[in-house]
Amino acid sequence: MQPSVVFVLGGPGAGKGTQCQRIVQNYGYVHLSAGDLLREERNNPGSKYGELIENYIREGKIVPVEITCSLLEAAMDASGKEKFLIDGFPRNQNNLDGWQKAMAGKVRLQFVLFFDCPLEVCTERCLSRGAGRSDDNMESLRKRFNTYLNETKPIIEHYEDLSLVRRIDATRGVEKVYEDVRRIFEEPNVAGGDK
Ligand code: ADP
Ligand code: C5P
Ligand code: MG
Repeated sequence: MQPSVVFVLGGPGAGKGTQCQRIVQNYGYVHLSAGDLLREERNNPGSKYGELIENYIREGKIVPVEITCSLLEAAMDASGKEKFLIDGFPRNQNNLDGWQKAMAGKVRLQFVLFFDCPLEVCTERCLSRGAGRSDDNMESLRKRFNTYLNETKPIIEHYEDLSLVRRIDATRGVEKVYEDVRRIFEEPNVAGGDK
């Protein structure tokens, strides 16, 4: 069976990771955050990409897809599972092209879950995240927002044109947002037979 994939997009701090954790508990998906995988690779002393990744992260730029896509593919393979939430990817055209080339034939894209959240709310959430991230500061955030508006938004629009985007109003509290998320995952064609 072909593995299925849900891409999870939205501004920095929109609540992607938070909602993905809940989806995992209820619907048997494996959560793979591209940002988390890149931070893990950065922290691996044996990695030749550590410095490059940290520079991209602090500058709010998108790491070349060869690196990110191979981390995703390795994590998918290692999981032995077949339903994935791929969070924070594809973030730009380079991500999308690299994924299409390496992975599109191997997986089935179910839909794109888009957490729609104004940048002021995203700022507030990032600044109070308290995860000790080197990019949760105003200077990096401005760059991340620019990248989001200029590079990621067009990718969301691309998937909108394909009628693959499920938009969620992410401004409300975690529980309210998750109610809307659940409604999508409860749809018979989404849940499939193996909840
Ligand atoms: P993302 O993965 O999109 O960057 P996170 O899930 O890490 O976002 O959430 C960013 C911060 O905002 C975290 O501190 C998280 O606890 C908080 N948060 C997430 N969702 C909500 C929400 N709906 N309302 C208020 N705070 C939230
Ligand atoms: O999704 P998250 O906020 O954890 O991503 C943090 C940073 O990781 C991004 O701002 C970017 O620098 C990097 N990243 C990337 N490519 C992705 C996802 C994240 O370069 N697809
Ligand atoms: Mg996250």
